[in-house]
Amino acid sequence: MDKSLEEILQEAAEKFSAAGDSHALYEAKMAYLGKTGKVGALYKKLRELPESERPAFGAQINELRRAIEERVAVIEEMLHERELSDRLQSEQVDVTMPGRRRQQGTLHPVTRVKNMLIDVFAGMGFEVFEGPEIETDYYNFTALNTPADHPARDMQDTFYLANGLLLRTQTSAGQIRLMEQKKPPIKMLSPGRVFRSDDDATHSPMFHQMEGLVVDKNITLCDLQGMLDEFARVIFGKGSKTRLRPSYFPFTEPSVEVDVSCHACGGKGCSLCKGTGWIEVLGAGMVNRRVLENCGIDPDEYSGFAFGMGIERIAMLKYGINNIKLLTENDVRFLGQFKD
Ligand code: PHE
Repeated sequence: MDKSLEEILQEAAEKFSAAGDSHALYEAKMAYLGKTGKVGALYKKLRELPESERPAFGAQINELRRAIEERVAVIEEMLHERELSDRLQSEQVDVTMPGRRRQQGTLHPVTRVKNMLIDVFAGMGFEVFEGPEIETDYYNFTALNTPADHPARDMQDTFYLANGLLLRTQTSAGQIRLMEQKKPPIKMLSPGRVFRSDDDATHSPMFHQMEGLVVDKNITLCDLQGMLDEFARVIFGKGSKTRLRPSYFPFTEPSVEVDVSCHACGGKGCSLCKGTGWIEVLGAGMVNRRVLENCGIDPDEYSGFAFGMGIERIAMLKYGINNIKLLTENDVRFLGQFKD
């Protein structure tokens, strides 16, 4: 090979050896073999030579190009191997290391009980209907047979808003909204937040209720008790029974207070049931004729029952929680105890 070509080869070989990685090697390679590289320049020069000198010089450039290609290939392979082993080294996983544990969330006890209640009643054909939390006086009271001067209004301390609106004190307001839209047969379940100006260990200004409403032909209190027995068994255990006691609500007639046999002592009497063997869990009754009339349903043709329970109260009884505030403090040490 011509001396000046030897020098180019020499210089190229040095540059290739100096390349630290395949990218640098590629750049170096292009400086010789690329379109504007040094070898390319030689081919240009070839065209300027007299015809007689061209074959010899052409053969020399070809030889140079092959020689450069060979060197590049050797270094390329070496770099590839090194890079691969570097990568394998750095991406090594120690399968014997202990895993990182992720904290798993749990459902809030109120949500759990709400879901259980929906499951029980959905299984009996109830559909879920949710009314608004901000209500008018009409839906929360008047249509529920509780006109302005009715003494039963004092049973619930209401938060009033501007423009005659209020925060609903009971999910019973949803009964009216549903019966205005839908005619019997009705089987409605209505969960939601309610608000009362009330605050102690078992009362909170915001809590959740689950309302139930059934309206059809020939509905009786026996239907109510049959369904509530099933509810008691699912929530408080197989042996649970219910008992109805007379009570008063303006929107039901007759009205009852429903007790469930104490799940802590099985009815023998303990501190939870205050020695009585029974625990009061909800209010209920046959829908008052006036309420049906207010919604355009003929009370001579249809009858119905309704019930309403506090979800916090059910959760507290079921899980033995003694202060309702625990349910809104969001202490994960408390909440984490409610797992399946
Ligand atoms: N709304 C009543 C309350 O808040 C409960 C209830 C609902 C009673 C339906 C009878 C029928 O106390």
